[in-house]
Amino acid sequence: MINFEALFKVSYGLYIVCSGDNNKGNGFISNTVFQVTSEPPRFASCCNKGNYTAELIKKHGAYSVSVLDTNVSPEIVGTFGYKSGRDTDKMTGLNIKYGGTGVPIVLNSAIAFLEFKVVQTVDVGTHLMFIGDLINAEIIDDTKDPLTYLYYRQVRKGVAPKNAPTYIDKSKLESKSKDISFKKFKCPACGYIYDESTELIRFKKLPDDWVCPVCGSDKSDFFEVDNK
Ligand SMILES: Cc1cc2nc3c(=O)[nH]c(=O)nc-3n(C[C@H](O)[C@H](O)[C@H](O)COP(=O)(O)O)c2cc1C
Repeated sequence: MINFEALFKVSYGLYIVCSGDNNKGNGFISNTVFQVTSEPPRFASCCNKGNYTAELIKKHGAYSVSVLDTNVSPEIVGTFGYKSGRDTDKMTGLNIKYGGTGVPIVLNSAIAFLEFKVVQTVDVGTHLMFIGDLINAEIIDDTKDPLTYLYYRQVRKGVAPKNAPTYIDKSKLESKSKDISFKKFKCPACGYIYDESTELIRFKKLPDDWVCPVCGSDKSDFFEVDNK
């Protein structure tokens, strides 16, 4: 038996993983960046095969990881976590640094960054796991804390889209999907749906200063939609 609620007990951080160069750079939000060996310092990053960034990492053989701050701006999450670099230039207007390998590094909402050269790529099915040797690591702001996935979900009320490796279809979360009294609320600006059946908290109980995790619109702008 698999109780999918147990999967929410596994801890993660949240990062922007970038690749490319100063001509065409791109990145995506990831909760699956983790250290796999200490000598040499080696990390893994799990990237959906359909992500535009996967193409860039394969081409350039390197990637950067920006460690996000607890107070990451909703625009950063919306752009890097819900839009594809195929349709939009995510880097315009941002504070970008270029690493020794030439990959872009996003400094906005970041407290530290790491840079890697890919030494192995493992096909894990829907995703590619890019194993990288650490070649540079710097702290940007030592006074702030790193954003965790738990904080993102419970305090920022954020969700992960289907191509995140830790996405869980709501039909698997039995206890919640049985209750038909859950409602849905839609963001008028970006169309994001807050679906109470997959959240830990009712929409009305969210704090007044809660904002859309995708585009940053106010909670008061949301409207209820048909619960289909
Ligand atoms: C909280 C959160 C966690 C995510 N984690 C991952 C991840 O670990 N791996 C992944 O491939 N996509 C993950 N995603 C989804 C990508 O960030 C998203 O599909 C992005 O738009 C891909 O951008 P790209 O096509 O420009 O590369 C996550 C998204 C969010 C919001």
